[in-house]
Amino acid sequence: MLRYWTAGESHGKTLLALVDGFPAGVAIATDAIDAELRRRQGGYGRGGRQRIETDKVDIRTGIWQGVTLGSPIALEVVNRDYKLERLDDLPRPRPGHGDLTGAIKYLGSVRGVLERSSARETAVRVAAGALAKQLLASFDISVFGYVLEVGPERIEPVDATLAELRGIRDQSELYSLNLDRDPAIQQLIDATGKSGDTLGGMIEVRVDGCPFGLGTHAQWDQKLDGRLAQAVMAVQAIKGVEIGLGFEAARRPGSQVHDPIHYDPSAAGTATLGYQRPTNNAGGLEAGMTNGQPIVIRAAKKPISTLAKPLASINLDTKQPEEASYERSDVCAISAASVIVENVVAFEIARAMIDKFGGDSLAEMQARYQLFLEMARER
Ligand SMILES: Cc1cc2nc3c(=O)[nH]c(=O)nc-3n(C[C@H](O)[C@H](O)[C@H](O)COP(=O)(O)O)c2cc1C
Repeated sequence: MLRYWTAGESHGKTLLALVDGFPAGVAIATDAIDAELRRRQGGYGRGGRQRIETDKVDIRTGIWQGVTLGSPIALEVVNRDYKLERLDDLPRPRPGHGDLTGAIKYLGSVRGVLERSSARETAVRVAAGALAKQLLASFDISVFGYVLEVGPERIEPVDATLAELRGIRDQSELYSLNLDRDPAIQQLIDATGKSGDTLGGMIEVRVDGCPFGLGTHAQWDQKLDGRLAQAVMAVQAIKGVEIGLGFEAARRPGSQVHDPIHYDPSAAGTATLGYQRPTNNAGGLEAGMTNGQPIVIRAAKKPISTLAKPLASINLDTKQPEEASYERSDVCAISAASVIVENVVAFEIARAMIDKFGGDSLAEMQARYQLFLEMARER
C-alpha cells in the first residue's frame, strides 16, 4: 500500500515526507518536483515569506541512479528561514486558526500548535504528490489543478483543449484558465489586502486517463471518492469538497444528473474502453470506482485567518479582550492551494493504481495494467 507521513514545523529546521510503498523502477526527475514546489510558492497575493524561501527537494533515500528501489523514499525540503528557537509565543489566538483549540488541547503554547497547523507543511505533501505524478505519467494519467473562483468572483475557463488550458494556467499569476479575467481579480486581491482583510476561493482538479475500476464499492474506507475527499479536505483551510456536479446534484431530478451510457467501438482502445458518456456529472466516479471518464473534484478554501486588521480575541494570559495577534501572512493563497490540492489528488490516484495493479515494480504494474485492459475489453 502506498502511503506517506510528514514531519516538520513551519519555522523549524526542515520538512520531511516519508513515502512508503512506492514501486521500484520509476525514473525520478528531481527538477519536476522542484517545479511543483516553485508553483506552490507562487501565485498572486502571497506574503513576504515566499520570497525568502526557494524550496528544493532533497531525495534522501529510496533512489539509486535516479530510479526508485521499491524501498521507502524520504523527501526533505529544508527551511531556509529557520528561526523557531528565536520566535516568541502568540498570546492572542487568531480566530479561524488552530491557536486557541490546540493550546488548550495540548495544555501548551499557541506557537507549539501553529508551527505544525500552518500550511508550510504542505511543501512536502506537494513533493510526495509530484513524485506520485511521475508514476502516473507512465500510464498517461495527468492531474491538472486550477483556480475557478476568488472570493465572490468566478473565473470562467476559456474554451480550449486540455493542453492549451495547461498553457494558460501556467501563464496566469492566479493559476486561472482565463487570462483576461486576471487583472480585475488581482485588483480585488490588492484592495482586500489594503483593507486588512483576506480572500478564499474555489479550486478544480481534473484527472485524465484513469482506467476503469480504481477504488472499490466494497468497503467504505477504500472507496476512491471518500479517499479523495479526505485527502483534499485535509489540506489546510479547505472547507468543502465536491465531485462532479457535487452539491448541485441534490437540487436536480435524476434525469438531469446521471450520465447516459453509449458505446463506440472505435474508442475501445482508450481508457474509456469505448463506453461514452455525453455528460460527466458523476465526475468520473460511480460507487467509489473510476468509470473511465475524467475525475473532476472541486475544493472550497476559506479566507486566510490571520488578518492585518485583526478580529476580536482574548489575551490567554490575562483573559482580557484584545485583538488577535498578527504574524506575516498571505492575503490570498488560493493559487498555492490549487497546487497542493492537485498534488494530494495525484498521490491518491497513484495509491489506487498500486492497489489495483500491484506495487512492487513499475514493469509488473504495466504488465498487469495491459492485461486488465485486454480482459476488460472482452467483458
Ligand atoms: C497555501 C496556503 C497558505 C496559507 N497561508 C496562511 C497564512 O499565511 N496565514 C494564515 O493565517 N493561514 C494560512 N493558511 C490557512 C491555515 O493554515 C489554516 O486556516 C489553519 O491551519 C487552520 O486550519 P483549517 O482552516 O483547516 O481549519 C494557508 C492555507 C493554505 C492552503
